[in-house]
Amino acid sequence: MSHLPTIQFAAPQFPASGVLVVLAGKDGALPAGLPDGVRGAAERAGSLGKFKGKGLSTVETIAPAESGLDRIVVVGTAGEEPFGEEDWLKLGGTIQAKLAGASVATIWTEGAAAAPQAREAATIGLGILLRAYKFDRYKSKKAKDGEEDTADQTLTVTIAVAEPDAARAAFEPLDALGEGVRLARDLVNEPANILTTTDYAARIEALSSTGLEIEILDENRMRELKMFALLGVSLGSPTPPRLCIMRWNGGAEGEAPVAFVGKGVVFDTGGVSIKPAAGMDEMKGDMGGSAAVVGLMRALAGRQAKVNAIGVVGLVENAVDGMAQRPGDIVTAMSGTTIEVLNTDAEGRLVLADALWYTQERFKPRFMVNLATLTGAIIVALGNQHAGLFSNNDELANRLLAAGLATGEKVWRMPLGKDYDKMIEGKFADIKNVGNGRSAGSITAAQFLQRFVNDVPWAHLDVAGTAMGSPSNEYNQSWASGFGVRLLNKLVEEHYEAR
Ligand code: BES
Ligand code: MN
Ligand code: ZN
Repeated sequence: MSHLPTIQFAAPQFPASGVLVVLAGKDGALPAGLPDGVRGAAERAGSLGKFKGKGLSTVETIAPAESGLDRIVVVGTAGEEPFGEEDWLKLGGTIQAKLAGASVATIWTEGAAAAPQAREAATIGLGILLRAYKFDRYKSKKAKDGEEDTADQTLTVTIAVAEPDAARAAFEPLDALGEGVRLARDLVNEPANILTTTDYAARIEALSSTGLEIEILDENRMRELKMFALLGVSLGSPTPPRLCIMRWNGGAEGEAPVAFVGKGVVFDTGGVSIKPAAGMDEMKGDMGGSAAVVGLMRALAGRQAKVNAIGVVGLVENAVDGMAQRPGDIVTAMSGTTIEVLNTDAEGRLVLADALWYTQERFKPRFMVNLATLTGAIIVALGNQHAGLFSNNDELANRLLAAGLATGEKVWRMPLGKDYDKMIEGKFADIKNVGNGRSAGSITAAQFLQRFVNDVPWAHLDVAGTAMGSPSNEYNQSWASGFGVRLLNKLVEEHYEAR
């Protein structure tokens, strides 16, 4: 695997080697306290490159020989609005992109127009780590010429800040958060022949070393619990289903937990209602919702969050086989609701029906948030820029919207209502697993889920467009984004943790 950069924080002491990164303000204003030669070189590069200090714009130059430095990279921080949390993350990513091939770098923040505080400096560190992520496990030859090569690079980045102890303390939880994001990305990037349901469950089980309590339900146990909606999806697959439960008990004893539930379809062929061949490979990512839940739980444990949290993921493969369920089959969910399976490709909601019902019944959570790559229709509606948010609770929905804006993992609220609910009334059973043709496809899927939440405050995030395949940005260059981990970590941190 690629090496990740080492991030450290130190009191400002001007470096005598390596790459120097300086933050510039409006009109390219450079911080005070740069040695004359360095300042002169940076200014010259700035005026030649028409550098105006605009946020995240960069200019670089060879350092003067007497400085001992290799290169000077100037990064702008100016703009209409002051830098927010996501901007600092982007800044870190932008810097990391400029450090290809370097082994030592110093980020000089002292005297900058927008000098980062401890938490902001720490966020630069997280941005560096997220940008450096690469899934190259199966490349026998690592980076190609001209690619950002982090394969055998060992890079140490020192962020020079006025209060290094405070920055270090602020970085610790963000480092754990970064681990959670990387875990989620890894799980989504892994192909389905490697990340089978049982392999996935084993990886979750291994997280017990982080302090999470793990429990794994096998097929027999799920049959005893009458989870026939979930089990039906799994019938066509040679690898058996698993329901994995992760518990983090960092809050007050006896306090009701917050709960996160994820769709973990390790591969979605569509089943008998088979998908077209083009692009079907992307369905290895159909467990993106579950990966976010696993990554989040990893992050909460890693940073010793003061909260009681439950993560539940339903792991199945939706395969084609003589044993697979057929269109028209009727299954009874754990809740007792009967479901006509009119399209075997609408399988995610069947998995979540039992996972959600089980979660609320067993854990009586304060709320449930589920994540699922549930519908292609949400990509039609929102593209890759927002996840769809559906909720029966305005307070929870508003908190998620705010967390989305802060982290850049944006969500957009979509409607629910009786008229949409009518669209899933069944002909031969209580409900059917599809709506009417293509209209309101993401909403009817959400209505289906709502049938299984039993009035618990609940939000459903349809992450089909955001968990994978979104355009690269400053802090993500990977197919799998890890979407949801930072969003939900923010939700927990802001509203549900004891301080
Ligand atoms: N996993 C898919 C949704 C999906 C599509 C995720 C594209 C990521 C990218 C889901 O199981 C599915 O097949 N949904 C169907 C529902 C339909 C049959 C009602 C869809 O969206 O077409
Ligand atoms: Mn499907
Ligand atoms: Zn699916």
